[in-house]
Amino acid sequence: MSETLFTGISQLATPRPGPRRGAEMGQLDITEQAALLVRDGLVAWVGPAAQAPDAANEVNLGGRAVVPGLVDPHTHAVWAGHRLADWEAKLQGATYEDILARGGGIRSTMRATAAATLEALEQLTRPRLQRLTASGATTVEVKSGYGLDFAAELRMLEVVRRLQGVYELQPTLLIHVPPEENRARYVQGVCEELIPEVAHQGLATSVDVFTEKEAFNVQETRAIFEAARANGLHIKLHADQFHAIGGTELACEMGALSVDHLEASGEAQIRALAESDTVATVLPGVTLHLGLPAAPARALVDAGAIVAVGTDLNPGSSPLFSTQLALALSVRLNKLTPAEALSACTVNAAHALGLSDRGSLSPGQRADFCVLAGPDWREVAYALGGQAVQEVHCAHSAQAA
Ligand code: NIG
Ligand code: FE
Repeated sequence: MSETLFTGISQLATPRPGPRRGAEMGQLDITEQAALLVRDGLVAWVGPAAQAPDAANEVNLGGRAVVPGLVDPHTHAVWAGHRLADWEAKLQGATYEDILARGGGIRSTMRATAAATLEALEQLTRPRLQRLTASGATTVEVKSGYGLDFAAELRMLEVVRRLQGVYELQPTLLIHVPPEENRARYVQGVCEELIPEVAHQGLATSVDVFTEKEAFNVQETRAIFEAARANGLHIKLHADQFHAIGGTELACEMGALSVDHLEASGEAQIRALAESDTVATVLPGVTLHLGLPAAPARALVDAGAIVAVGTDLNPGSSPLFSTQLALALSVRLNKLTPAEALSACTVNAAHALGLSDRGSLSPGQRADFCVLAGPDWREVAYALGGQAVQEVHCAHSAQAA
């Protein structure tokens, strides 16, 4: 048995175990002059230091604030090549969708990723995960989706598997863009070959689809979701990024873990999410990088939805390498309060991955936590750059920052 009592915590701020919906997102438990007892990787006790139990080991954190480890519920951290030319074209007025329709954008990253070896992809991915971890992420979701063919999709998931021992990762199979020809056959292959193979090899826990005018339609998405469910995998969705074409409604109807993006969501989509247990994940890095409208996180919380925040780390729409910065940007761009943003990046982000064992520093939860640079927990939502998160403690893996 290993047991450590962390003392010298000026403030410990945490949401209660999740998911936290609507107004609950703003209600944190804040303990001044706190202590945290960790036993075998789990929180055993948390409360005022004056009442702390004895423990075999003690670590004094020197008067700094503690918050739960952040959960990044949406990244595309495995890719090769870059999108600097696309970015410059966008600065000259081209749109993300135009570039994709011309065969660039996501498709150019697919070509570069196909040309890289497994080892090269692993080497490219490792420092990206290291940066997310250093920013406070103790669990990171990583998607495939840049595979030119099924073998390439499996290869991306294999990269995630290789890095699994170093970082705490949740792999997702992403069905990203349809081929230019034989689209119906592709979807059939996804349902009948790729998804069963991924499930058989245990390479992913969820299946995600990009439902958009330039990608998959609602009917195709439904077929892919049905195959995912038949193979015991969770479902998630990229929807309403540019146009609300019905993906959000479908995902809520089918019990998806989350719908992500939502920049183009309106009243109907907000209502569907608020009435469901599907998490609404907003991605402020996309708003900043592509200049899209911000997803209506404020309205979603006010309507009673479960809102999460992620980086969407990827080379095309969100080159954002800090989960803490995503949290801080969601306050500025999506109008969450600091407390709501912390709930969004911890318990609710965990729930977006189907995980209920983390995101809250409460007895029985994983003892994943961040020690901030200063004494006030709000620094984690305030700082834009710098190093608000000074130490990252992750209970069950070798990762360290
Ligand atoms: O979440 N919009 C679809 N997919 C990604 C972007 C991927 C890319 O541009 O490479 C996203 O924004
Ligand atoms: Fe994405």
